[in-house]
Amino acid sequence: MKFDWTVHPNSRISRIRFRPLQWILLLMRNMWVFTLRHRPRNDRDRIINFRYIDSVKISLTYIMCAEVDGSIGEFGCHGNLAKLIARWLAEYSPTRRYHIFDSFEGYPAIESEVDLSSPHIISGIWYSGASSSKISAAKLAAKLSRIHKHTHVHVGFFSKTLPATTIDEGFSLLILDCNLYSSHNVVLSHVFSCGLINEGVMVMFADYNVNRASPDFSSRRAWREAVENFEIRFSDEGPYNWGGHRFIVHGYNGMPSRPDA
Ligand SMILES: C[S@@+](CC[C@H](N)C(=O)[O-])C[C@H]1O[C@@H](n2cnc3c(N)ncnc32)[C@H](O)[C@@H]1O
Repeated sequence: MKFDWTVHPNSRISRIRFRPLQWILLLMRNMWVFTLRHRPRNDRDRIINFRYIDSVKISLTYIMCAEVDGSIGEFGCHGNLAKLIARWLAEYSPTRRYHIFDSFEGYPAIESEVDLSSPHIISGIWYSGASSSKISAAKLAAKLSRIHKHTHVHVGFFSKTLPATTIDEGFSLLILDCNLYSSHNVVLSHVFSCGLINEGVMVMFADYNVNRASPDFSSRRAWREAVENFEIRFSDEGPYNWGGHRFIVHGYNGMPSRPDA
């Protein structure tokens, strides 16, 4: 077992001035992580999360090392990944903004014909109100702003919150985990039509293979349509776990130049 003695900036431990107490708390943190890592988990759960966290860390490293400017946008958030991203930003990119969008009441009303005919809606595993976050928006916002002060939690359906949000600097990384075609479509149409996508953006679709990986539903369809509508030039960066796929955007119709972003 390798001990991790990092005192993360803005963490509770960092606020403790008495060094011996700080060491005791770091030791307790290590024991807690050790217990979590060695908790008996079934193979399915292990594989579902396989490479997910590391892939997000690789994307964060990519935007920093490749100097891709702009905010991070997460669309569909339950909190655990958000804490990891906030910690990472506090440590390695403290001025970068992090925008989180979620209704905090699950999926919206399912109205689009595409969603209504998708296998997961027909089978009943997705429905309006499903998959809501267990943590409240207020609690999450309070927790995250203690870790990384440039974190903004936007509560409500994307169709309302996105147009009401100003993101002058554009995006450098998009993480979309909102499952429905209509939800992806709202996000992609908005960010591309408003020129919010900067050169080199990494776009991560967490649910590219849902609905039997059919190109007719969910993020696969929304991405294909965005590529056609905005003439997006991109590189396919491949799958990053059982369901996720990522792309890098080089350019598109209407991409603004942001020399000072
Ligand atoms: C699969 S969960 C996200 C899990 C999260 N990425 C994580 O790993 O913690 C899908 C989320 O998308 C949100 N969502 C889907 N469509 C939405 C929309 N149109 N507006 C706002 N939130 C939406 C749901 O509320 C839900 O929290």
